[in-house]
Amino acid sequence: MSYSFDRYHKAELQRRTGVKWRRDGPAMLPAWIADMDFPIAPEIEAALQEVLDRGDLGYPDPSLDLAVREAYADRVRRRYGVAVAPELVVVTADVVQAIYLSLLAYTKPGDGVVFLTPAYPPFFTAIAETNRRAIPCDLVNGRERYELDLVRLREAVRDGRARVLLLCNPHNPTGRSFSTSELAELAAIAEEHDLLVVSDEIHADLTLPGTEHVAFASLGPEAAARVITLSSASKAFNLAGLRCAVAAFGTERLLAEFERLPAHARGAVSVLGMTGTLAAWKNGEDWLTAALLVLAENREIVQDWGAPHLGPGALHSPEATYLAWLDLRRFAIGDDPSLWLREHALVALSPGPEFGLAGRGHARLNFATPRALLEEILERLSVALGSFSSKSS
Ligand SMILES: Cc1ncc(COP(=O)(O)O)c(C=O)c1O
Repeated sequence: MSYSFDRYHKAELQRRTGVKWRRDGPAMLPAWIADMDFPIAPEIEAALQEVLDRGDLGYPDPSLDLAVREAYADRVRRRYGVAVAPELVVVTADVVQAIYLSLLAYTKPGDGVVFLTPAYPPFFTAIAETNRRAIPCDLVNGRERYELDLVRLREAVRDGRARVLLLCNPHNPTGRSFSTSELAELAAIAEEHDLLVVSDEIHADLTLPGTEHVAFASLGPEAAARVITLSSASKAFNLAGLRCAVAAFGTERLLAEFERLPAHARGAVSVLGMTGTLAAWKNGEDWLTAALLVLAENREIVQDWGAPHLGPGALHSPEATYLAWLDLRRFAIGDDPSLWLREHALVALSPGPEFGLAGRGHARLNFATPRALLEEILERLSVALGSFSSKSS
């Protein structure tokens, strides 16, 4: 089947009711929150339509929840070599909820949570709002990519008396997909300090051609027994508004501790969320393969634009996801360049400082959009940044 990823033009996208296109009005081009501007997979659309055609929106039967857990277990076994029993998987409303629940289930107020920065903003809020202690540890901007600084990480874990490593792999916002050897180093640190690992792998299926996703749980039995892996079809299949995610537990004991949180406080997932997820994981393979090719092309366009417009080292080609992390410090347009760019380029990027101190002077660009729009976004950025540098030179 051939899929049309550029079906929606600007005027149609502007009629969308989601926050990406609604927040700023028609003059702004949105390239911020992690939603894609593509149509959803027809296989998912058909599955959702069937439910609607039956008027089938009553309380879901537990067999639907079980089917999602089985589909997840089957998928990670096939794609990532992870053996997880469906009995050790829990369906949750979303990944961020599962992060909060994990912190509440396994740690006490004041316990330290170490994570790699810059970081997905809800990592900061989840730690702060549960009264746990944030132990941020900066990635290093290397020649080719962002790298782990293992010495600094060991110190952070030891000095901060961390209890949990909250990992994001593939990493938002840098687009890093950590290699087996990097993850083995992280697993060694986790073992040395007996850390629980909460591994947010929501971007795994968006690993771009040329890179393979390595699941933390695939590293070996020791690593598998100390990890809770969080995932969802929402990023790769663009279903964030449907709300459905999974948490996979390394052991029965971890699951039992999690399940001590009251069931109704953990919330429930909708029929449409589970139906969409099931269709994505069972029938969405061809669409996903096609989407990854489009994203890889867009990545090239952004990369080709980045070097001449942003200067050397300001943008590393992401190995996964459709997010480009831009180092805009040479333009001296403030700690939050997205503010200046909203005004001068009429492009909305994600503000770097929301990703922590390491995000000052940076912004995140979402390139999951039809090519014509991506070109318009980059053109607007070029003109604004170009006029700025010619004024300042
Ligand atoms: C790393 C990461 N985790 C979680 C989420 C959000 O997932 P959910 O909507 O399931 O909470 C995102 C969304 O962009 C993300 O980038």
